[in-house]
Amino acid sequence: MPENLLRGKKGIITGALDENSIAWQTALKAKEQGATFVLTNAPIAMRMGAINELAQACDTIVVPADATSVTDIEKLYDEAKEFLGGNVDFILHSIGMSPNVRKGRPYGDLNYEWVQKSYDVSAISFHKMLQVAEKKDFINEWGSVVGLSYIAAQRAYPFYSDMSEAKAILESIARNYGQRYGQLKKVRVNTISQSPTKTTAGSGINGFDDFFDFADMMSPLGNASAEACAEYIITLFSDYTRMVTMQNLFHDGGYSFSGITPTIVEKFLSK
Ligand code: NAI
Repeated sequence: MPENLLRGKKGIITGALDENSIAWQTALKAKEQGATFVLTNAPIAMRMGAINELAQACDTIVVPADATSVTDIEKLYDEAKEFLGGNVDFILHSIGMSPNVRKGRPYGDLNYEWVQKSYDVSAISFHKMLQVAEKKDFINEWGSVVGLSYIAAQRAYPFYSDMSEAKAILESIARNYGQRYGQLKKVRVNTISQSPTKTTAGSGINGFDDFFDFADMMSPLGNASAEACAEYIITLFSDYTRMVTMQNLFHDGGYSFSGITPTIVEKFLSK
């Protein structure tokens, strides 16, 4: 395993809810690789308490912030700057939520207020975090910002509902802000399109378990775990990916480029 890939780097990690969270695994890896960072999550998620254990393990603090609130993001950056003693080199946006998915509303009967909420929480918050960072000049030159996406941004997956559009917006923001921030400050912005992963957000999706198994069979390497995703995120925060920006990067064991796999054919023939 490489060592100290993030030595001397400072950052912000959003979205660690419990040990299954991609953000939780990322925090552990970032600490292991020598980074210092501040954790944050929505005030409501804080009540579950687990994030404080993570903060202890990572020698850091938790600053509650609703990522849809510009005021909360401003406060988060100010407090992080004080705690870290300066600006940051990386930010992880690991946030997603759709009230329509949660409450089982079918795609042909969406509640449009909830649609707005899905977009705001899962996508526009990414823009808000970038815009506030730019205005405050909060990210150091050659910094790296990563968001987490899903292949439903490109292809139709009925169970993913309005989160499909949310992810398409998220990826578009990475491209457009990536161009802007790259020119302004050499800051890179990317999204990682991750395999289905057994987390609170993932498992909240109807039929997730069946689809998880299907995706696993469609991926030559199998589904990528939250831990493997965290390792990929660390490489994107490291100096070894300085010229990668405006990309949506598939981290899915080969799923996105598999037409069909022998495992699926066998399964089909054995019926
Ligand atoms: P998770 O449920 O552990 O993390 C989602 C986080 O979003 C939670 O910590 C939650 O508190 C936070 N959040 C929700 N509303 C918020 C708000 N208003 N402000 C701040 N934080 C808020 O689940 P997971 O899977 O680790 O999700 C992280 C990211 O990965 C999400 O963007 C998700 O869509 C994405 N992703 C997940 C996949 C999966 O199958 N689990 C697959 C591909 C992408």
